[in-house]
Amino acid sequence: MRKEDLKSLIVDELANCGFSTSGDVQLIGPLHERPYGMIYQLKIANAPFPFAVKVCRYPTRDEPNIKFSKRQYADLERFYNVLKNDPVHRVSQPICLLEDHAVVVMEWAVGRSAVEYLLDWHCSGKCIEDKIRKAALLLKQLHEKCFQSLDYPTVECQLEKIDQLLKSGKNQKNYLYRFNEQLKLLAPEVRKTKIPFVYIHGDYQPSNIIFSKDKVYAIDVTYSRVEAANIDVVTLLNTLSRIFLLPKGFRLLPIKNRIFNAFYKEYYGDNYKQSLFVLTWMMLQDQLRFYLENAGSNSRSLKNFYFDISQRRLMTGLLKELNSNVGTN
Ligand SMILES: Nc1ncnc2c1ncn2[C@@H]1O[C@H](COP(=O)(O)OP(=O)(O)O)[C@@H](O)[C@H]1O
Ligand SMILES: [Mg+2]
Repeated sequence: MRKEDLKSLIVDELANCGFSTSGDVQLIGPLHERPYGMIYQLKIANAPFPFAVKVCRYPTRDEPNIKFSKRQYADLERFYNVLKNDPVHRVSQPICLLEDHAVVVMEWAVGRSAVEYLLDWHCSGKCIEDKIRKAALLLKQLHEKCFQSLDYPTVECQLEKIDQLLKSGKNQKNYLYRFNEQLKLLAPEVRKTKIPFVYIHGDYQPSNIIFSKDKVYAIDVTYSRVEAANIDVVTLLNTLSRIFLLPKGFRLLPIKNRIFNAFYKEYYGDNYKQSLFVLTWMMLQDQLRFYLENAGSNSRSLKNFYFDISQRRLMTGLLKELNSNVGTN
């Protein structure tokens, strides 16, 4: 669809929804292009906020993915509604769905993302700790309000996935098998304690957390589903760990424990240590999966070499922590 046509379609729909569309209208972008869609920003002179416009399409053919857009809109509505009365913690407001064109229009959360703060050398360790604490509180609110049940963690399908990746034969390093064996060994212990299952955000990584002046927003609820709440925690903390191992994130590596403890305390409360065994098991499993899915070929490039040693270091650290937490759950 032409950009001008997209713009007038959205403007008509916004007018139907009661938004004033008089004045200057700008459709900016696409700002982000992905195989499964594009993001634009729409600015209207008299509107209370800018709008984010997500055009969903199939990755393999250039056709609108209506099912995907409907699901995203419904997920957005659910999360937005549960936090509606919270003055600080927000999910960007769904505005309208142009179903035939698979276009989702929502509030544009104005501010800086957690990843921008992490990579900003002017932002001190204390500032990062504060942001992570806020991100923990937003996640806690979201999970508490989307609680479904207490249940035993499912470990089988995750382990199966790792087995398949190992079998695919791209990565034959012995230590990967050792991590997998340890995960299997401790799996029965992980299955012993019930944990909360909720509607998870599904992609709670720093680029999807936005801080405005007095609010914290979660965006991009594309992968929401009912799952162990810990999955969102794993996504955030493992992404942080990986950022700390990049040259641009090195400065935060010495205070990693401080940052993680701030998260744990805010999210799990003062007795957070009880939750760490199951969480660390899931973190190691997720990290191993990440490694197997993203490791380069066996070429001896410097990039591959660094990826290997840094990821191995991360997994070794997680395994050590996991063993030290056995029996605390
Ligand atoms: N509602 C929104 N408010 C602010 N920024 C947004 C919003 N939706 C998308 N963006 C911007 O576009 C980027 C990509 O959009 P996102 O929905 O996260 O898709 P994905 O990460 O799957 O590509 C985000 O990281 C953010 O910078
Ligand atoms: Mg995103």
